[in-house]
Amino acid sequence: MLKIFTRSSSFIAGALFAALLLGIAPSQAQDAGLDAEVRQTWKLLDYIAVDYPEAVADGAVINEFEYAEMQEFAATAQDSIASLPANENQGALVSQAQQLRSAIDAMSPPTEVAALSRGVAESLLTAYPVPVAPAAIPDLARGAAVYAEQCSSCHGLEGHGNGPAAEGLDPAPIAFTDPARARERSLFSLYEVVTQGLDETSMLSYRDILPEEDRWAVALYAGTLSFTPEERQQGEMLWQCEEALRVQFPNIESLVKTTESDLAAQTSADTARALMGYLRTNPSVVEQDTEGLLAVARARLAESLEAYRAGDVSRATTLALSSYLDGFEPVEPTLRARDNDLMISVETAMLEYRSRIGAGAPVDQVAAQKQAVDDLFASAETTLSVAEGDATAAFLGAFTILLREGLEALLVVVAMIGFLTKVERRDVLPYVHAGWAGALAAGVLTWVVAVYLIDISGADRELTEGFSAIFAAVVLLGVGIWMHQKSLAGQWQAYIKDKLSAVLTRKSAFFIFALAFVVVYREVFETILFYVALWTSGNGQAILAGTAAAAVVLVIITVVLLQTSRRLPIGQFFAASSALIAVLAFVLAGKGFAALEEAGMLPVITVDGPRIDWLGIYPSALPLLAQLAVVVLLIVGFAINMRSARAAAAE
Ligand code: HEC
Repeated sequence: MLKIFTRSSSFIAGALFAALLLGIAPSQAQDAGLDAEVRQTWKLLDYIAVDYPEAVADGAVINEFEYAEMQEFAATAQDSIASLPANENQGALVSQAQQLRSAIDAMSPPTEVAALSRGVAESLLTAYPVPVAPAAIPDLARGAAVYAEQCSSCHGLEGHGNGPAAEGLDPAPIAFTDPARARERSLFSLYEVVTQGLDETSMLSYRDILPEEDRWAVALYAGTLSFTPEERQQGEMLWQCEEALRVQFPNIESLVKTTESDLAAQTSADTARALMGYLRTNPSVVEQDTEGLLAVARARLAESLEAYRAGDVSRATTLALSSYLDGFEPVEPTLRARDNDLMISVETAMLEYRSRIGAGAPVDQVAAQKQAVDDLFASAETTLSVAEGDATAAFLGAFTILLREGLEALLVVVAMIGFLTKVERRDVLPYVHAGWAGALAAGVLTWVVAVYLIDISGADRELTEGFSAIFAAVVLLGVGIWMHQKSLAGQWQAYIKDKLSAVLTRKSAFFIFALAFVVVYREVFETILFYVALWTSGNGQAILAGTAAAAVVLVIITVVLLQTSRRLPIGQFFAASSALIAVLAFVLAGKGFAALEEAGMLPVITVDGPRIDWLGIYPSALPLLAQLAVVVLLIVGFAINMRSARAAAAE
């Protein structure tokens, strides 16, 4: 729906114009009036469900004023339903509304009245459909900002209904933190109040004050205020583990229409509370299918361009980043498995888009880049939809990812093992093994935590990758230069003589452990995410076969490398290892800075140049500068090594 809308908004505008010419416009206007009437009636019914407990308890009226209001609302709702254009469901609706009135007149229990009025409200929307869902997933962070600015003065910063402007207001502002009330409120109903306001109260209509997406965002935010972090966490666990709950929320519409008590009626009060809390704080999970995610990516990008047009650069930047992190990043592993080049093109194009915004490029250039990204999204959609279930692709995907991520880690670990063996310090090997084995375990653990316990966003993932890569690059740079020094004439003999007698200090043992840990850890998490994505496409057997094949290749490479290093004379071994480690430091420096750029932590300044993934070379200034720094340091380090070696030889 959204996709069609953004793609063909000019088509729609054209169609409207044609409609005007043909004289169809009056019926359009009537439709808008009908929409408003239906929404208004819906709101009355919704209010009855929520407010009736304040009017009647235990079969007796407890608040005369509220009770009179309930009767009036029910009567108005019935009249307005009767006045809607006739259709085949209208008769049934009117009598349903009559039932509701009788129940109120009879002072029936609140649960019964709530069920009846929700029933009428639901049938009303079926008989006279009006749009109830936002065009895109509302942005919670945006909602929080709007709330602080527009609503907190009355409703209180934390939603307790005690803002500075609330004093003396009658009726008092609603406390969004009240769980009993929140239970009866769907996001749609909150949105409707924000849009229409409440007659005869200080709650204004925000229709002309906030754009629609902001009204959805702030309604979403208000809808999260009654939940505790524990409830949300528990909700995430339920969401992950229970398929039956997931199928109840196939899209954003189902989420905005459901109240916590609707859900409680189908599950249990605790489940409903936890799940609502989680879904409202993470609404995008309801559209985790790739199509939905790419729609999010597109919508955010379009909003970003709008914001840029309007001169709001910081909002344009945030939205562009959100397009990448919330929309595209989650489908990246799947797309990489299908078509790595396409994945890289999309990523590069999105980076270029952000860089143009950052550089303050003219609007038409930014718009052209947005178009380029949109076109690539279209290719991605095609690729993702046709290749689904292709066993060969699954096999190759599993194979290449494990090989590629594994190789980097393997080279470092094997170099360490080779080194320790050469200098006859096998006693230190357990630290290396503990390092890589610990990293495997920690990677799996991080993944479990990420999936089941806390929400690790795309940005957090990129930050972890970025910082660990930079840390490893710095360490490897030092190790590379040091090994080069030992590779020079005579140095290693002296070193080994020293080392053989020396006792291993706790510090160097920890250092060895840490290096093995970090280089392996940073690859494990990435690999697991990728496998999870691949797994959802089915083809379990092909994936297992690909994994096994890659594991075999990695084992062979390990054995060959260890053998070769054993056979190499020690000087040559040090020289080869130092060269290898220097290259890895170069690669990781590029990757690390590129990841920080992707997380939005560093500005993106694109330059003309190739993108060579396995060398960590990106067409972006900061990663390239970092790599230049690595090269300069290596040259300086190596030069100093040679000079002191020559000086030593001359002595
Ligand atoms: C001038 C004070 C004021 C401001 C500002 C204000 N509200 Fe209200 N709001 C109220 C009052 C008073 C009520 C309760 C009316 C009643 O009890 O019928 C209310 C009710 C509501 C309700 C109905 C809740 C329910 O459970 O029935 C929602 C939703 C709401 N406000 C959202 C907002 C949002 C979102 C904003 C900011 C965009 C906002 N309000 C700004 C005073 C305010």
